[in-house]
Amino acid sequence: MIVDLTLNNAKAYIDNEIVDCSIAINEGKFFKIGKEASMPKAETKMNLRKLLVLPGLIDAHVHLRDEEKAYKEDFYSGTAAAAAGGITTVLDMPNNTPVTMSVEALRRRMKIAERKILVNVGFYSEFPENIQEAEEIIKEGAVAFKLFMAEQIGGLNIDDDHTLLEAFKTVSKLKVPVAVHAEDRTTLKKAEDKLKRENHNDIEAFLKAHSEKAEVIAVRRLLRLAAQTSVHIHFCHISTKNGLKTIVDRKRSGMKITCETTAHHLFLSVDELRRIGTLALTMPPIREKHHIAALWNGIEKGWIDILASDHAPHTLKEKKANSVWDVKVGVPGLETTLPLLLTEVKRGRLSITDIVRLMSEKPAEIFGLKGRGCLKNGYNADFIAVDFKRKYNIDASNFYSKTKYSPFDGWNVEGKPVKTFVHGQLIMDEGEIVDKAGSGEIIRRVKL
Ligand code: DOR
Ligand code: ZN
Ligand code: ZN
Repeated sequence: MIVDLTLNNAKAYIDNEIVDCSIAINEGKFFKIGKEASMPKAETKMNLRKLLVLPGLIDAHVHLRDEEKAYKEDFYSGTAAAAAGGITTVLDMPNNTPVTMSVEALRRRMKIAERKILVNVGFYSEFPENIQEAEEIIKEGAVAFKLFMAEQIGGLNIDDDHTLLEAFKTVSKLKVPVAVHAEDRTTLKKAEDKLKRENHNDIEAFLKAHSEKAEVIAVRRLLRLAAQTSVHIHFCHISTKNGLKTIVDRKRSGMKITCETTAHHLFLSVDELRRIGTLALTMPPIREKHHIAALWNGIEKGWIDILASDHAPHTLKEKKANSVWDVKVGVPGLETTLPLLLTEVKRGRLSITDIVRLMSEKPAEIFGLKGRGCLKNGYNADFIAVDFKRKYNIDASNFYSKTKYSPFDGWNVEGKPVKTFVHGQLIMDEGEIVDKAGSGEIIRRVKL
């Protein structure tokens, strides 16, 4: 038999070890991993010259935008950014215009995406107003629900416990996770109104409003409601010491909950926020050093399940509004997350095993992405080749994302994804996109 592709001279991450091997790929799947002499004949052969081969990263928290927000990012620019950053699958958030919260909206989004995506894309849906429609949305292919607790975005009244409880009960039967943005709307609004009345419109005011308390109150409330059902709650971008502690305490009781943090919450502190200004403004915001230490401790202890970019592109103009309350929150992250993490491997704070667990294996497990996140026979051949020795400065002006700024601009990093393969197809080579739009796959949940 003649397979599509063999890759020789790889150093690949297989079963928690880095091994010298060759990899054969056929019809978009890993066919054989082993010694070069044992490889089948192949149409194409590639010499990886000892590059480190890892499963492609799965970024479970990405705002790809498009449709009426295509001026910020679209399916092509966003997935090109993912490919450049070593990410082969992204999960798209639903706070779009229009909001993804119906079968029609989801179908339309998938149709638009199909022709434009370079990497695989799965879709979140917000909750529909009528919770009975949740099942149809999952049947249409959404991988999970997203619930914004910081402001009213979806169809459920987030101030009403009973409504949330009913939604959790329905979703627990559908066996998909609910990813939550845990900041309490009432707490935020109260603080924000007071600060606005007193004419406080700067970053300090934003930090006051988006307090640790706002995160903890939302986490507690969600845990209290979720505990009455068997729903799987996934906490997005946990940013505070006590937010994390509240989750970890409940994890110990055996509740089905998982959590995530982001590179910006791990690598940046309020010092950088103050220096960089509103360009680095996110929700939840980046925090003081003791929170960062708690997050790193959470990674080390295995309490934090996954890392994600929360890639949230906006135009430069939107980031520079006069009042902090008018600034669009969010930073790009698809092209910076992996290089930042690889640099920490060099510094000894993370291992390759950590990166693969946090950004490939666990996201695949949490979001039910079967056959992904691992270099294994029969799995989808979504993988990357990393040059572990490459030193360079992050240059946001070179991003594929439409967002050409980053709080990490100019940072010196070590370790770069130099090749990205999706379904065995080379789509990024040395920073260049080499395949055409449409080479990614729309990931639908396995049939109910
Ligand atoms: O920083 C953020 N940006 N936090 C959010 O919750 C929304 C996101 C966005 O869509 O821009
Ligand atoms: Zn969020
Ligand atoms: Zn987000």
